[in-house]
Amino acid sequence: MRKRVSIIGAGNVGATTAQFVVQSGIADVVMFDIAEGIPQGKALDIAEACPLWGSSSAIKGTNKYTDTADSNIVVIAAGFPRKPGMSRDDLLHANANVIRETCIEIARTSPNAIIIVVTNPMDVMTYLAWKATEFSCRRVIGMGGILDAARLTAFLSWEFNVSPEDVEALLLGGHSDEMVPLTRFTAVKGIPVTELLPKKTINSLIEKTRKGGAEIVSLLKSGSAYYAPAAAIFQMIKSILLDEKRVLPCAAYLNGEYGVKDIYVGVPVILGKEGVEKVIEVNLTKEEKTQFMRSCTSVRKLIKKLSI
Ligand code: NAI
Ligand code: 2OP
Repeated sequence: MRKRVSIIGAGNVGATTAQFVVQSGIADVVMFDIAEGIPQGKALDIAEACPLWGSSSAIKGTNKYTDTADSNIVVIAAGFPRKPGMSRDDLLHANANVIRETCIEIARTSPNAIIIVVTNPMDVMTYLAWKATEFSCRRVIGMGGILDAARLTAFLSWEFNVSPEDVEALLLGGHSDEMVPLTRFTAVKGIPVTELLPKKTINSLIEKTRKGGAEIVSLLKSGSAYYAPAAAIFQMIKSILLDEKRVLPCAAYLNGEYGVKDIYVGVPVILGKEGVEKVIEVNLTKEEKTQFMRSCTSVRKLIKKLSI
C-alpha cells in the first residue's frame, strides 16, 4: 500500500512541503486546512504538475480530518507565522490552541502516525502535541535544527566559496535565538571551521544564523520563510518513510539525556521508520553546556506559561 503523508495547514510551509513530497513520488499527500477552497485549490495545482514531474503520487486537499485517516506521517504546519518585529515566542497562545485542536483530531484519525511539528514556538508546540496526542515520544518530533543547520551551512559555503555539500554544521538547543551552534563539529570537508576561520568571522555567521528567520520575515513583510523549512521537513519525511536512519538535529523528548528531563529540545537523533530511534549524546564543553542549559530553561519557561 502507498504511504500517506498528511499536512495540516495548507499555507506557505504546508503547501511547499506537499509539493516536495509529491514531486519526489515517495508518498501520497492529503493537505488539510480550515480555510475552505485553499487546500483543494493548491492540491489541484500540484496534481496538475505531476505529469510534468513524472510523479505518480496522488494529492487531495480537504477541510475534513476523516480524509487524513491512517496517515503514516502527519506534519503540523497550521497556525500563525511571525510578523516583522515578532519573536517565535510571541505566537505561543494563539498557536497552542491550534495545536490542541489539531492533535485531538490526529490522534482520533491517525492513531499510528508519526507527527512532525513545525508550528512555532516549535519546541513547546512539540511538547504540547506529545501531551495532547498521548503518543509515544518517539513518534512526536519537532523540525527546527535541520533548518538552522542548513542556514549556517549555506553561510559557511558562501564564506569559503565551496559547495554546501562539503560543509557540515551541528547545532543543539531550541529553535530560537538561543540555539547552540557546535563549532567544534562544524566543518568543511571534515576540517573544523575553528581551524579555518577567525573567531570573529565564525561569531558573525552564527549571529546571522540566529537571526536567519527574522531576516526573511523583515524582507517578506508578511509571512516567514518556507522554502528551506519545507526542504527540512521533507528530509525528515524521507528519513522516516524510507527508514534511512539519517542523523538529524530535531526537537526530541529528553528523559535524562544531556542531564535534562521532560522537555522537547533540539538534539541530534537517528530518524527511521519508528520515528526517533536514538538520541545521540555529544560530550559538551562547559561553555556549550551552559548555553544548552540556557536554551532548555527558555523552552521550559514557555511550557510553564501554557500550564501543560
Ligand atoms: P501560513 O500563514 O502561510 O499558513 C498557516 C496555515 O494554517 C493557514 O493556511 C491557515 O488557514 C492554517 N490554519 C490556521 N489555523 C488552523 C487550524 N486550526 N487547523 C488547520 N489549519 C489552520 O504560515 P506558514 O508560513 O505556513 O507557517 C506555519 C507555521 O510554521 C507558523 O507557526 C510558522 O511560524 C511555523 N514555521 C516554523 C518553522 C520551523 O523551523 N519550525 C519554519 C517556518 C515556519
Ligand atoms: C524560521 O526560522 C519562522 O521559525 C521560522 O524561519
